[in-house]
Amino acid sequence: MRERLEALRDEALAKVAVAKDVKALQDVRVAYLGKKGPITEVLRGMGKLSAEERPVIGQMANDVRDAIKVQVELKEKELEAAAIEKQLANESIDVTLPGRPVQGGSTHPLTQVVEEVEEAFLGLGFSVAEGPEVEVDYYNFEALNLPKDHPARDMQDSFYFTEELLLRTHTSPVQARTMELHKGKGPVKVICPGKVFRRDDDDATHSHQFMQIEGLFVDENVRMSDLKGVLEQFAKSFFGEDRQIRLRPSFFPFTEPSVEVDVSCGMCGGKGCRVCKQSGWIEVLGAGMVHPRVLEMSGFDSTKYSGFAFGMGVERLAMLKYDIDDIRHFYTNDIRFLAQFKRV
Ligand code: PHE
Repeated sequence: MRERLEALRDEALAKVAVAKDVKALQDVRVAYLGKKGPITEVLRGMGKLSAEERPVIGQMANDVRDAIKVQVELKEKELEAAAIEKQLANESIDVTLPGRPVQGGSTHPLTQVVEEVEEAFLGLGFSVAEGPEVEVDYYNFEALNLPKDHPARDMQDSFYFTEELLLRTHTSPVQARTMELHKGKGPVKVICPGKVFRRDDDDATHSHQFMQIEGLFVDENVRMSDLKGVLEQFAKSFFGEDRQIRLRPSFFPFTEPSVEVDVSCGMCGGKGCRVCKQSGWIEVLGAGMVHPRVLEMSGFDSTKYSGFAFGMGVERLAMLKYDIDDIRHFYTNDIRFLAQFKRV
């Protein structure tokens, strides 16, 4: 029996030594140490042994079992460590590889122009005011000296929700709203950027929705020369130091006198070219001295206060500045177009 146990031990340890994976190791353990294994069998046959031999063989059987158990456990740890090593080797990552670049977005060119105009006017002491895009007839027209049935309403074909409610056709209603808030006390010095809407057939230069920036300055002794100075300053900062402006008489119901403001053509420097239609000048905005009736309607004493207002199209400014030939580029959001306006 002694030899049999020693043979079993050597046999089992040899198999443990060559086991290639945890599964093979488990098979060895079950085969030798399991309930139906040879060692259990030896222990079961102990009854047949003599009284002296029984403890000796019993002790030996236990030793053999423990020896196999210990080796199986050692081998198991070894195999597990090897498996982890292998996994680490296979799944290693090269931390020195360059990363994939993240595609950064950019501000829409119209937003950029609005921000640039805002900055120019903030520098001149203006602040920014906003108003609703769905406007009441009173602020969009009446408070701007455009009573119901006034023919000048035709200049701005409109989208109405009801008789009294419409999509604003210009940013001028924000003038009236802002003056009202000041309760007859100057100075009022704001610019008002925002979306406006007019019934129009869309083409390369027209859109039923576009953006405007309105400007308003009301105080004592505000004169036409102040308007000219502010706009000249703006034209130079937005388009370039070498630009000039000129004022031409025009008409708006809410300003008197009213002017159309041209800026000298940046393409030819004023000599005349295709861009300025040989005139040397490009029209950029409408302006004028706030009509006394508009001041009065919004709560200002027109004998004490005067003011100027102007309004310009953001798309038009952007098209002139960046030589863009179709207003629709701003709304179709082709990434190839937008990506050209990335600020660095
Ligand atoms: N609201 C006018 C327009 O949309 C522009 C303008 C504003 C003209 C302020 C004069 C003064 O055409």
